[in-house]
Amino acid sequence: MVQPLVPSPTGSLQVSARAAEPSVCRHPASLQPGQPLLSLVIPTFNEGQNIQSMIHQLSDRLDRVLPGQYELIVVDDDSPDYTWKLAQELAPIYSHLRVMRRQQERGLSTAVIRGWQVARGQVLGVIDGDLQHPPEVLLRLLAAIDQGADLAVASRHVQTGGVSEWNLLRRVLSRGAQILGLLILPGVVGRVSDPMSGYFLVQRAAIADRVLSPVGYKILLEVLGRGTVQRIAEVGYVFQERQEGESKVTWKQYVQYLQHLWRLRSSPTQAARPALSLPVLRFFRFGLVGLSGVLVDMALLYVLSDPTALGWGLTRSKIIASEFAIINNFLWNDRWTFGDIARQQTGWNKRLKRFLKFNFICLAGLVLNVLILNGLFNLFGINRYIANLLAIAAVTLWNFWLNLKLSWRVTDANSLPR
Ligand code: GDD
Ligand code: MN
Repeated sequence: MVQPLVPSPTGSLQVSARAAEPSVCRHPASLQPGQPLLSLVIPTFNEGQNIQSMIHQLSDRLDRVLPGQYELIVVDDDSPDYTWKLAQELAPIYSHLRVMRRQQERGLSTAVIRGWQVARGQVLGVIDGDLQHPPEVLLRLLAAIDQGADLAVASRHVQTGGVSEWNLLRRVLSRGAQILGLLILPGVVGRVSDPMSGYFLVQRAAIADRVLSPVGYKILLEVLGRGTVQRIAEVGYVFQERQEGESKVTWKQYVQYLQHLWRLRSSPTQAARPALSLPVLRFFRFGLVGLSGVLVDMALLYVLSDPTALGWGLTRSKIIASEFAIINNFLWNDRWTFGDIARQQTGWNKRLKRFLKFNFICLAGLVLNVLILNGLFNLFGINRYIANLLAIAAVTLWNFWLNLKLSWRVTDANSLPR
């Protein structure tokens, strides 16, 4: 007899505080009533070549530590390779296996939540269905939950963690996404070392009754951003290379990641828990804006002074280029670095005042730059490039500090830049 599929829930993406009733249990004998239960969701799309080994490896381990107290929920998005059917055929052997075939909805994050909605456990979890997440790490995640964590995350970025054979580009993209996340949503992304992880366990109570609304791949962001997670544990793991099937990640997931961050940011439930302290965050932004100014300066200097372009005199070109760089930096800083303060001091008058102060401080900084460079080079005999770097660092601090104190002076109670 083939086990029936679990119907996929519809409606809002909310996990209830009370676990789904055991009455929906197909194999009552496999569940010990009253026991806390682990419900591990395995989202799949075209994982036909992996699913059997996956279920086998997980069951093998869990049977030893949690006999009769866990369930595996495969949530398959109607895979053309019939992953759902293959999983369904395994159910008679693995009595704790349940299979959902989703035909109305798609996407990794929603698949995970739909799985949790039918879950009977007090502890909810997710693991990739392609064996890239080592099953043995699950035992350490369980141990962390046992010791009182609300959330236990398998992380590539703590001790014993890592990636197996990623090339430089992939590492840079992955870290870049994380840094971007830190800038946009420090209070969420900064809480764990691997916010991209799709391998974690969470207490049902920490996400219960929250309306979840994820976009794309990164379900952990949603859990951190909308849940009430207090204690977090991280367990290192090495992200394995895929042996069978292929990844579903395309450029689209990167765009969705950004959308997801913005959406979480503007959500009212988003708690203001900055990971970087406000001054550090501001300084970081200020530095980035400064770099953008260097690009503007360089580009204009080229257009104005290069013999193959306009060919104007160097000094005149440099003055114009610098001024445009300063304007560029002002606009970004006013909107972003100090945006929270600027929005409390609206009106063109005040804006112009801020700009003039900023402009003046930056020009003074330029003079200071030349003086420091000369002093270090001529008086102390320091190598001119090292001297220049030191001068730039000093002037960046000068610019930041004075602008903070003068141009974007806080008048009211401070708040996180939004
Ligand atoms: N149901 C469903 N629907 N499952 C999906 C979908 C979907 O639309 N898209 C992907 N999956 C399943 C895959 O079948 C696989 O089991 C898992 O989700 C992860 O998808 P992959 O395409 O293999 O992703 P990956 O290996 O690049 O991505 C992983 O990157 C992280 C590390 O940064 C993420 O999925 C994370 O889980 C992982 O930790
Ligand atoms: Mn994968």
